[in-house]
This record gives sequence, C-alpha cells and structure tokens, in this order.
Amino acid sequence: VIFQDSTVASILVAQEIAALIRDKENQNKPCVLGLATGSSPIKVYEELVRMHREEGLSFANVITFNLDEYLPMDKGNIQSYFYFMHEHLFNHIDILEEHINIPDGSVSSEDLYQYCIDYEMKIKAVGGLDFQLLGIGRTGHIGFNEPGSHYNSSTRSITLDHITRVDAAPAFLGIENVPRKAITMGIGTVLSAKRIVLLGWGGNKAEILKETIEGEITPEVPATYLQNHENTTFIIDEAAASEL
Ligand code: GLP
Repeated sequence: VIFQDSTVASILVAQEIAALIRDKENQNKPCVLGLATGSSPIKVYEELVRMHREEGLSFANVITFNLDEYLPMDKGNIQSYFYFMHEHLFNHIDILEEHINIPDGSVSSEDLYQYCIDYEMKIKAVGGLDFQLLGIGRTGHIGFNEPGSHYNSSTRSITLDHITRVDAAPAFLGIENVPRKAITMGIGTVLSAKRIVLLGWGGNKAEILKETIEGEITPEVPATYLQNHENTTFIIDEAAASEL
C-alpha cells in the first residue's frame, strides 16, 4: 500500500496494533508483538504513546519481542536497541518490565547458543507472535537476517554485512565502532507471525523494495521470503515506491 505521507501511514499502523491489543484484552489473552528498531517505526511508536496518554490504551496485557540487538552491546549504551526501545516506547507506556524481551547483546559467547534457543522457546510459550513490525535494510535484511539467511532460520548470532555497518556508522560515529555481529530472530521466527507489516520510507529504500516485492524469492534478498507469507502488508511512501 502506497501512501503520500509516512505520518498518516504510521498512524494507521498504530491503529491496527491498538485494535489488536484491545481485541486480545477483550478475549483475556496476551497480545504478543514483534517489534523493530531503526527510523522506520518511530512514528508508529509515537502514535502508540499518544494513544496510551490520551485514549487510555493499556499495554498491561502486551508481551513484546524485539527482532535484534548488536553483539556485543551493553544495555546502558545509547546505541543499543535496548536504549532505543525504552526511549521511543517502553518508558512512556504501562507495559510490565517482565513482558519486554530484547535480545541481550551482553550475553557471553559460551551462553549465546542456549540463549538463542531460549528466546525462541519464550515466543512459542506465549502462543507465538500475533503481529510483527518490520523495517528493511539496504541489503534486504529483515531484523538482521543478512543475505544468505535460510528461510527456516531461527534466533541466532549473525555477522553483519558491510553495507549494514556503513549505514549504521553515523550512529556509532564511525564504522570502526559498529559491532561486527548481532543477535537476530530468524526468518522462520518472523514468518511464524500471524500478521506482518513492513514499513519503508524514502527513496533510499526504493531499489531494495523493488527487488523484495517484484524480484524472485532468494536468500540473497532475505526480505523476498515475505512473498510466501499470507498476511503481510508493505506500507511504503511514494518515494520508496518510485522503482515499482
Ligand atoms: C537495522 C535494523 C533493522 C531495520 C534496519 C532499517 O539494520 N536491525 O531491523 O529494519 O536497520 O533501519 P531504518 O528503519 O532506520 O531504515
């Protein structure tokens, strides 16, 4: 779906998430959200915070799982996704701390393998992801599933693509400071979500969105796997749609 304005589009996405939260609340069930970082979802989070403040939208029955985190990364670091999520969403809503799940970038290398298995188990234990929000990287990654990722991959550590590190360099004040690895939910984890919404804004996403939406399904562009998911919507603006 192509929108003129990313703000209007983000508000509609926030409304869909809010409706799901209320629906689950009425059924007395938890609402399990898969969340993303980066600039793309910021306005969605802004609108959810506004709905909490002004319309009483409660996150008390919401459980969240973030897609990814740099490795190594401390929670207190302002470049961490832990910091980003608290800054943009969690500090401003009534979510319970124990309902927030973000891959821990400070896990030791000995514990990493088991940690990733446990992250998957936690998602399954609460009934799976009801809704997954995504952005897209220039390499075609979703989460940090870089080119070469298998469609059936689960939460694991991954080596970041050079392009991804170049794109992250400004936030880290230089590419030499960008971590070389990350923990990411897998493609299989993402595809297990009942509903997926991918956000794409601006001309620098136009080329990869064309490959993702119109190209052949290939591990070289992991986001193309979304073509096989029956309930995915790409919400993009006109600049991002310019190559379609
Ligand atoms: C990072 C994140 C992705 C995100 C991508 C795009 O690589 N790990 O989950 O989709 O950036 O970021 P932006 O939304 O800022 O373009």
